[in-house]
Amino acid sequence: NTQTHFVIAVDGPAAAGKGTLSRKLAHHYGLGHLDTGLTYRATAKALVDRGLPFDDEAVAAAVAAELDLGHLDRSVLSAHEIGEAASRIAVMPGVRRALVEAQRRFALTPPGAVLDGRDIGTVVCPDAPVKLYVTASPESRARRRYDEIIAGGGTADLGAILADIEKRDQRDSSRADSPLRPAADAHLLDTTEMGIEAAFEAARVLVDAALER
Ligand code: DC
Repeated sequence: NTQTHFVIAVDGPAAAGKGTLSRKLAHHYGLGHLDTGLTYRATAKALVDRGLPFDDEAVAAAVAAELDLGHLDRSVLSAHEIGEAASRIAVMPGVRRALVEAQRRFALTPPGAVLDGRDIGTVVCPDAPVKLYVTASPESRARRRYDEIIAGGGTADLGAILADIEKRDQRDSSRADSPLRPAADAHLLDTTEMGIEAAFEAARVLVDAALER
């Protein structure tokens, strides 16, 4: 085909499996990949590291504007507390404007990219030819997080993880600016009863169809 630039938008709540799915899609189609959650996490961590306040939107937006998307270290940013902090600064329109601008630049870089987050199909890349909205029941998302932590040798409390996931869903879906919700033209992928391979196959069929259009 003649397309020189292609974007796949992947949205959904915390721990639904969008990260793993997005990485597999990017690898399969030879596209870049940006986990946009990391941009919110990196901004939150930079505030903490510099001892800056969390309730000053202008300060947080300035830190967001300086972020280098080329240097987002997942291992440093994956901590639960950073995810919580990220969810709190993600309600600030000034922070979102700065990060969305950087995310769009990434999406526009040839040959294109898979972006995953909460508002990719609705706000960041509304013209993406393929939009996926990946969900799973809160219980199964909590169970997957729990299994990950246990497999990594850690200890965890399933009930506490479930409560956290529900709190985060609530905050991400109820904010005024760019709330978590499926785009009107998104394909819903419920992974509650689906392994990652089945989710990938379902997504591949949708992407191949869009590539042929
Ligand atoms: O996907 P994650 O857990 O790494 O995201 C952390 C927080 O960042 C999430 O709770 C809300 C925010 N976020 C957002 O508001 N918009 C995005 N596109 C991605 C993440």
